[in-house]
Amino acid sequence: MSELLELDRVTVQFGGLKAVDDVSIRVKTGERRAIIGPNGAGKTTLFNVITGIVRPASGAVRFVGADVTRTPVHARTALGMSRTFQITNLFPQLTVEENMLLALRGLSPRKFSLLGDNTLSADERARAERAFSLSRLHERRGVAVREMSYGEQRQLEMAMALVTAPKLLLLDEPAAGLSPAERVIVSDIIRALPRDLTLVLIEHDMDLVLQLVDFVTVLNNGHLLVEAPPSEIRTNQDVQDVYLGKARPHA
Ligand SMILES: Nc1ncnc2c1ncn2[C@@H]1O[C@H](COP(=O)(O)OP(=O)(O)O)[C@@H](O)[C@H]1O
Ligand SMILES: [Mg+2]
Repeated sequence: MSELLELDRVTVQFGGLKAVDDVSIRVKTGERRAIIGPNGAGKTTLFNVITGIVRPASGAVRFVGADVTRTPVHARTALGMSRTFQITNLFPQLTVEENMLLALRGLSPRKFSLLGDNTLSADERARAERAFSLSRLHERRGVAVREMSYGEQRQLEMAMALVTAPKLLLLDEPAAGLSPAERVIVSDIIRALPRDLTLVLIEHDMDLVLQLVDFVTVLNNGHLLVEAPPSEIRTNQDVQDVYLGKARPHA
């Protein structure tokens, strides 16, 4: 397996705070990786650096062999990156299929209402169908988002992230706020994703995430604390200390 994503000594500074502090991570093609750590550890900021929403103060990001540290968000999407956000980002008054159309064309809902042709082309339809099927929404196309459960809304966000057929899918807390039954659906969807899709998953729920990934990166206070396979994470003393709030200050 070759490296798909590489972070080299990335630091992100917000005023006096180093939200990400000298973090190096390598993710191979086809790998499923979890990023875990307590609230404020820097996990979402790391996603923002990977996707280009936030520029690092120092360090480099490489994707599919290219240095993308200064590449804008849309160009990284075109290279094959896709993400979901920690908070839902849908247009509630529109249907599942209309939200998908916006995702496919990169449009805002205001532009949508001005758009002459709101129907999907044959190619767009094929891509949307595949994404709906992967995220188990194929029977919900015509339903308005505001009428769907929160769990289904998270599924739709996954469908919208999958529709570009990305090489790398970044999921920020896909199970946050879900009921136990909804969490099972989301983890089944993630487990059934194509194996050649590289996955980086932020998740607060260790029980959920440890069954889904090959390898785990633990962040704490912006630092990379531990990298290990799931089997070693639960028993790792540093990880236990951080999750029980007993972490020693970083030297
Ligand atoms: N845009 C921002 N401006 C200032 N501080 C931020 C910003 N985004 C995140 N932070 C801070 O950076 C730290 C890491 O945040 P975040 O990456 O959201 O952590 P996590 O996702 O692990 O909970 C936190 O202390 C947070 O308050
Ligand atoms: Mg976060």
